[in-house]
Amino acid sequence: MRTLLPYMRKYIVYAVLCPLFMILEALADIFIPYLMSRIVDVGIANQDIEYIVKVGLIMVGAALLAMFFGVVSAHFGARAGFGFAAEIRQQAFEKVQSFSFANLDQFTVPSLITRLTNDCNTIGQVTMMSLRMAVRAPFLMLFALIMAFNMNAELARVFMVAVPLTAAIIGAVLPKARPLFQKLQTRVDRVNAVIQENLIGIRVVKSFNRQHHEEKRFKERNDALKNTALYAISLVISIMPMLNLIVYSTIIAVLWFGGKQVSAGTMGSGELISFITYITQVLISLMMMSFFFMQLLRGSASAARIIELLNTEPEIKEPKQPVKELKDGSVSFEHVSFSYPGSREKTLKDITVHIKSGEIVGIIGSTGSSKTTLVQLIPRLYDVTEGSVKVGGVDVREYDIRALRDQVAFVLQKNTLFSGTIRENMLWGNENATDEQIIKALKQAQAWEFVSKYEDGLDHRVEQGGDNFSGGQKQRLTIARALLKSPKIIILDDSTSAVDMATDAKIQRVFKSELKDITTIIIAQRIASIQHADKIIVMHEGKIESIGDHATLIKASPIYREIYESQQKGVGMDCIIEEIE
Ligand SMILES: Nc1ncnc2c1ncn2[C@@H]1O[C@H](COP(=O)(O)OP(=O)(O)OP(=O)(O)O)[C@@H](O)[C@H]1O
Ligand SMILES: [Mg+2]
Repeated sequence: MRTLLPYMRKYIVYAVLCPLFMILEALADIFIPYLMSRIVDVGIANQDIEYIVKVGLIMVGAALLAMFFGVVSAHFGARAGFGFAAEIRQQAFEKVQSFSFANLDQFTVPSLITRLTNDCNTIGQVTMMSLRMAVRAPFLMLFALIMAFNMNAELARVFMVAVPLTAAIIGAVLPKARPLFQKLQTRVDRVNAVIQENLIGIRVVKSFNRQHHEEKRFKERNDALKNTALYAISLVISIMPMLNLIVYSTIIAVLWFGGKQVSAGTMGSGELISFITYITQVLISLMMMSFFFMQLLRGSASAARIIELLNTEPEIKEPKQPVKELKDGSVSFEHVSFSYPGSREKTLKDITVHIKSGEIVGIIGSTGSSKTTLVQLIPRLYDVTEGSVKVGGVDVREYDIRALRDQVAFVLQKNTLFSGTIRENMLWGNENATDEQIIKALKQAQAWEFVSKYEDGLDHRVEQGGDNFSGGQKQRLTIARALLKSPKIIILDDSTSAVDMATDAKIQRVFKSELKDITTIIIAQRIASIQHADKIIVMHEGKIESIGDHATLIKASPIYREIYESQQKGVGMDCIIEEIE
């Protein structure tokens, strides 16, 4: 509560007005049965038409007022509830933006989605209902009790049995509900996980004909969610018949004892009717309170999940006196070891390597040899476990994170474009870039050759994830986007794997001639992509197997030689370069 309450600040006026109007509605509701008893006992008993009309009109007025207060209260409640939820959602979203890769690994994306959507909605709805019910129920009950005791204290003693009985039933069921609601939210997580994974990979699912398998997997989790929801709901519903039984028994008791008083002439028949209305109001209020507690439990399960998110400190922290400027594009790894969070195994083992500013460095090695893991440490996507990574002679942990990442452009292996236009995607690299600058970067990344063919050029639509481009086109666009940052260091993680050899060669040439001041780190599967690098690092099982240029490695590194020979069966890059020159 203490963590979330501050987010209500903006909506506090509505949160106060809602229950106030609710009390007014409850007052009007209480007044109506009293007026009714006057009509029966005074108006009808005396055959006084004028009195009946007068009191009848007041009754209509009270009903209209109750309706008005109710609507206004509901309106304020909705504003407070949904505003509160929106505020929390905003904060949670901003928190997620500050998360490091390690935090994202910990929470998982589907769970974050559920928390930001479903859990926030639940908090909003529960807040809205609580603001109304938490006030209406006790007030209505209190007023109705006062009126009933005033009217006939002797008859009102039925409450002494009915109220404790109701409270006992509610008290027995509620503790069972909380763990159920928590379970419900984790089940929603699991359903979302399948939906998300399936939709992102829907093309793969179809091409592998895995729809049937996916449907089965979805059905299992969907059924589990349904069953938990049903169980939770049946628990809630199971209270209802018991409470109804109490209500009806109480009414029968009142009719029995009250009826005797009416025939003895000590109670008016109108009074008896309104007395029954008050009884119903008291018991309904009790039911409402049980429902309210139930909602509160549901809300608290969701709130706990949001609070967990809000209270998570980003794994990667800003230093106290951050360095804002990178001196140059040199990179050194000094005795670096690294394990992924939650894993005991060392993914990188004692890496030491120095890269001079402006050098072109190739990294090669079999899949899973930790190439990606190695370069992720440079823009501080993860922090080292041991040793240090220095950029421009300064430990990356001493930089302002924004400054560091602005200067280190990283074209991720699993890169993606965002829905919008090509221009909008390019502006991610530099929001102030002019069209000329964008076109220049597209030309350098060899993307202009296809972008210029679109009638709408830079305004060409990009679908979500860049799905309307070929793999090679997408890779070239992401390289251009990185170049627009005018970084000091650029890292291409397998970024030309889908590009044809000739175009790949052209891109390599641009880095060698036009962009020679930028430190370029190229991870590649093809020797041809890195053959002309100043330095090539051969990775093997999390360690550096050897470092050197192409000629040295051919002689010195068995792994490199093996890769080279296996790739020599096709056409070498050299012939292609000669051809285009
Ligand atoms: N987020 C992660 N959490 C836990 N382990 C991971 C994570 N990412 C990678 N790994 C593990 O680290 C090891 C190295 O992976 P990495 O992605 O660095 O290899 P790679 O050399 O880039 O392979 P590829 O050539 O296929 O891209 C692998 O064994 C992988 O299972
Ligand atoms: Mg990789």
